[in-house]
Amino acid sequence: MTQGNSWFSKARYGMFIHWGLYSLMSGVYNGKEVPYGAEWIMKNARIPFEEYSKLVSDFRAENFDADAFVRSAKEWGMEYLVFTAKHHDGFCMYHSEVSDYNISKTPFGRDAVRELMEACKKYGVVFCVYYSQMQDWADPNGWGNDWDFGPDSEKDFEAYFRGKVKPQVKELLTNYGPIGMIWFDTPYTMPKELCQELRDYVKELQPDCLVSGRVGYGLGDFREIPDNETPVLTFHKPWETPVTMNNTWGFSERDHEWKSAETIQHKLVTIVQKGGHLLLNIGPDGTGAVPEGSSQVLQEVGAWMQENGESIYEAIGVPDNAYQLRFGQITYRPPYLYMHVFNYPRFPHEIMIVGMPVKVKEVTLLKTGEPLTFIQSYEIARDEYRFRVILPEACPDPLDTVVKVELEEPLTFQPLN
Ligand code: GLC
Repeated sequence: MTQGNSWFSKARYGMFIHWGLYSLMSGVYNGKEVPYGAEWIMKNARIPFEEYSKLVSDFRAENFDADAFVRSAKEWGMEYLVFTAKHHDGFCMYHSEVSDYNISKTPFGRDAVRELMEACKKYGVVFCVYYSQMQDWADPNGWGNDWDFGPDSEKDFEAYFRGKVKPQVKELLTNYGPIGMIWFDTPYTMPKELCQELRDYVKELQPDCLVSGRVGYGLGDFREIPDNETPVLTFHKPWETPVTMNNTWGFSERDHEWKSAETIQHKLVTIVQKGGHLLLNIGPDGTGAVPEGSSQVLQEVGAWMQENGESIYEAIGVPDNAYQLRFGQITYRPPYLYMHVFNYPRFPHEIMIVGMPVKVKEVTLLKTGEPLTFIQSYEIARDEYRFRVILPEACPDPLDTVVKVELEEPLTFQPLN
């Protein structure tokens, strides 16, 4: 039953799925667009629980197909999947015995967590769950709903924590096989002792299950970078960035501002260069269908991954270099260095890394294996190491041409003196 947790150090690219009752509202309340994340609509529009919970009887999910979903994730080059088992609205996307406010009570009736878990097993994708541990707008003692249940300061948070959070975490970690990670979120002011208790409880139930950084107080197994951010320097401990494809996590019928394949692919390479993992979000609509705007882009990035995945999977953070590279970025999977050419040089057809003293054995075009000419030099008067590669005249891949470099020693850079 165990899958260990070494998978995470190899996996660099995951799929985040935000899907719940809010997907039916698609970011619009009473005909008006509600700003900010569409999954926050209940809170942002202060919709009474009694009204919001009526969505349960509209949840038909006629287009939801877990198998097709995970098959696509796999084709798109993703290695793990994180699904919102319970988001801040408190609604459970699985059959919970702890709370009736769950997917079994909808006309759809099926258990989305179970179906995704099974599909993940079938396609060899690591299955993970998102669980909102502090905010719960459906629970009188959960954090965040002050329009139905009064101010948070007057709530009995511990009663909610022991009566709902722990029993539900137990359900998720005992009824669905091995879970790769549990993705806690928005710990806000949760007392440290309870965060620790929650972490310990996860480890007691499934020692290999990773705990996300947003459990709070550095108690996670990896650091969660703020939504859509990227660190400037390489961070050599495990970390992940969750990224949206438009401006919301949950589905919005009004937000068509899709990032391009180029933006996403470059973001992936940049995150991998700095030693992180990219968790890229899709927000299926109320029927369970993936918006076309996101699937097209994922398809394009996926096609690039099929040919160039070895420059991403199992890569480790690149040591910081004093120079910004003009051609693009590099990734590192010892003993290989991968030069990702985002800006294909027009003339001369040459790319260069300044300040790399490491000896190079061989250089090829990753996609075809074609050997490329390279020149290594040390400019004595300038005290500068230069490594240059001559590229083919015609650009082999406008998205990102990858040049594979075999190194004879571990990668280091010359400090700028
Ligand atoms: C934020 C939001 C949430 C979203 C998450 C994804 O913390 O509260 O809606 O699920 O980021 O990273």
